[in-house]
Amino acid sequence: MKILVTGASGLLGLNLSLMQIGTHTIIGVDRSKLAGTPFEIIKAELTQPGLFSRLIDTVRPDAIIHTAANANVDSCESDPEGARLLNAELPGELALSVARQGIRFTHISTDAVFDGTKTGIYTEADTPNPLGVYAQTKLEGERNVLSANPQAIVARVNFFGWSLSGTRSLSEFFFNKLSAGEHCNGFTDVYFCPLFVGDLAETLVRMLDKGLSGLYHVIGSEALSKYDFGQRIARQFGFDESLVIPKSVEESGLKARRSHNLKLSVHKLSTDLGAEIPGVSTGISRFYAQHQQGYPQKMRSYQQA
Ligand SMILES: NC(=O)c1ccc[n+]([C@@H]2O[C@H](COP(=O)([O-])OP(=O)(O)OC[C@H]3O[C@@H](n4cnc5c(N)ncnc54)[C@H](OP(=O)(O)O)[C@@H]3O)[C@@H](O)[C@H]2O)c1
Repeated sequence: MKILVTGASGLLGLNLSLMQIGTHTIIGVDRSKLAGTPFEIIKAELTQPGLFSRLIDTVRPDAIIHTAANANVDSCESDPEGARLLNAELPGELALSVARQGIRFTHISTDAVFDGTKTGIYTEADTPNPLGVYAQTKLEGERNVLSANPQAIVARVNFFGWSLSGTRSLSEFFFNKLSAGEHCNGFTDVYFCPLFVGDLAETLVRMLDKGLSGLYHVIGSEALSKYDFGQRIARQFGFDESLVIPKSVEESGLKARRSHNLKLSVHKLSTDLGAEIPGVSTGISRFYAQHQQGYPQKMRSYQQA
């Protein structure tokens, strides 16, 4: 299968593009950040009118995994119009443009569409209630994609791993602080289900291989607080766990409101895939193994000078 990945310089896009997944060929769409990658890159600004149709005509992919977005929650608050264009309108237009061509479309959304007020675990049947601009525009994006292209996959995700900048993910935040012997805050009142980005990439491709469509929670099978996550990173790398300071997200001074409970069920996904979804423990082990193998340095070597 030939898979076109948008946002190839991003945390998910780059990890996805660097994976050798079966016999699949990856072609990455990048604006300006990458050079010398082992996969083919097409340089493109996705909001340029008519560009995507030309790209599809040239590449003729079997599937698209659309990861490009404004995924910075606080920057979306400062630029709601830009966020709406990129996170809500563009995905619907892309999904529509391939709907009748037999090209599979996977759109990446977020666990943050929920307000976190539910006591239990969120399923795909629960009604979202986004708290800020990022989550609102991502929810609009989901709806636009599925109404334009009901065969599409919409994957609500939360993930961690190594990135091009070395600073993009929560796991890198803890790694960078703890390896420098610095204190860092870990929120005790935000629960989430992070999936290691390598596990996410493999799962997304398996979903395409299996011919799934519709809305799925594609997150880890284990819920924990962000504070616990920081402690687990510390333990895995042999750093001082006491450097992670327990804090409430309400004291953080972050611009956008954050949901306290993002525990999502993977029951639908594991049932339809016929496979267990990995938890955070195996994910952190894989994150550590990549570090030992020099993966973060290798990744940074693809940064355009
Ligand atoms: N990180 C998480 O834990 C998380 C959690 C929930 C959901 N998500 C969702 O997962 C997806 C991937 O997130 P991520 O963390 O990998 O994001 P990221 O690291 O911020 O990467 C975003 C990518 O989109 C590209 N992009 C933005 N605007 C573009 C445009 N106009 N034309 C072409 N490319 C453009 C960026 O290119 P440049 O590098 O050139 O800017 C970058 O490659 C997003 O849909 C996000 O909403 C992420």
